[in-house]
Amino acid sequence: MIVEVALGGRSYDVLIGPGVRHQLEAVLSERCVEYQTCVAITSASLRTQPWFDFLSFQGVHVLEVPEGESAKTFETLEWVCEQLASLNVSRADVVVGVGGGAITDLAGFAAAVYLRGVRLIQVPTTLVGQVDASIGGKTAVNLEAGKNLVGAFHQPVTVLCDYETLETLPERERLSGMGEVAKCWLLDGLHANDLLGTSLEELICLSVNLKAMIVSNDEFEGGERALLNYGHTLAHALEVLALHRDRDELRHGEAVAIGLGYAARLAYALGRVDASVITNHDEVLKALGLAVRLPKDLSNVDIVRAMGHDKKAQHDLTFVLAGPGGFDVVRDVDPEVVATVLEEFRGEQ
Ligand SMILES: NC(=O)c1ccc[n+]([C@@H]2O[C@H](COP(=O)([O-])OP(=O)(O)OC[C@H]3O[C@@H](n4cnc5c(N)ncnc54)[C@H](O)[C@@H]3O)[C@@H](O)[C@H]2O)c1
Repeated sequence: MIVEVALGGRSYDVLIGPGVRHQLEAVLSERCVEYQTCVAITSASLRTQPWFDFLSFQGVHVLEVPEGESAKTFETLEWVCEQLASLNVSRADVVVGVGGGAITDLAGFAAAVYLRGVRLIQVPTTLVGQVDASIGGKTAVNLEAGKNLVGAFHQPVTVLCDYETLETLPERERLSGMGEVAKCWLLDGLHANDLLGTSLEELICLSVNLKAMIVSNDEFEGGERALLNYGHTLAHALEVLALHRDRDELRHGEAVAIGLGYAARLAYALGRVDASVITNHDEVLKALGLAVRLPKDLSNVDIVRAMGHDKKAQHDLTFVLAGPGGFDVVRDVDPEVVATVLEEFRGEQ
């Protein structure tokens, strides 16, 4: 399956299917005609995976960076850029991100800033990477002050979503990806019943299609792209609070699942939807294997405060919420309603 991200002269294809990683060499010849060097950025452990078998052609160099969020630092970025320079990588050459969202974010940012921009191909190997992080051109590293605070928009020339690579993905990482899949399913207005018999491939295609369409309409998040933050106001707050004490406590998609369950209840409390929307959200999350449980020892006061600091908020409480005509970004939500719904949501668990 091929999904186009339509951005005029910078349009690109997302190839989805088993074995599409092996199309890298062909894509390079087609899209990067003058390239001589292709630098793949990955980690030591990913390099030992059985599917890491597609980079043995001429001109390929492999750089190993740390796992997960440890890859998204200025230190690693600087090291990668120094390596690109020592390999004489020119603007005709190509950087390839091979890994989860952390590595594709880092590889993307390195490709955005090295020589003020070289071409980028993404080979995402987590579900989060395939349905979200590798598509749309957002790249970043983290600061002490917060995640993704320094970055750039830099679109890839192709994305290769090979779901054979997901066979080695730990269950918790797979479930984390399901949080983003659930978000796309719900944003598409679909029901839990429709999930019956839907394959992983179909879920990936549906999510990629949605993201490609939204990015094509709103590349720099001036409007519609903000809808992709559905469930993320609460999710980001929980991540900030939980990750502060234990990096492994909450995966992003787990937090998104909780945020989606909460957003349905908030939309209902604000009179935007009827109770069937809550039921459908709960059933979709359950069908995808996602638990919807607020971390016990985070206080509601702290959570509401953290939601007010969300990147998308302008010093108020902002949520993406379902409504009669679809989804909207809703600003200035009454903090009392936010807190009451949170209290009730906790009470249900
Ligand atoms: N740019 C965007 O639009 C965007 C969107 C969503 C998320 N993100 C970013 O993505 C990151 C999270 O990405 P993630 O959830 O993919 O986590 P991750 O990149 O941290 O990967 C999770 C773990 O899975 C391992 N892994 C990756 N692929 C594997 C495979 N096929 N088999 C076995 N293990 C594998 C990794 O080595 C890592 O230890 C965050 O930094 C987030 O900010 C970016």
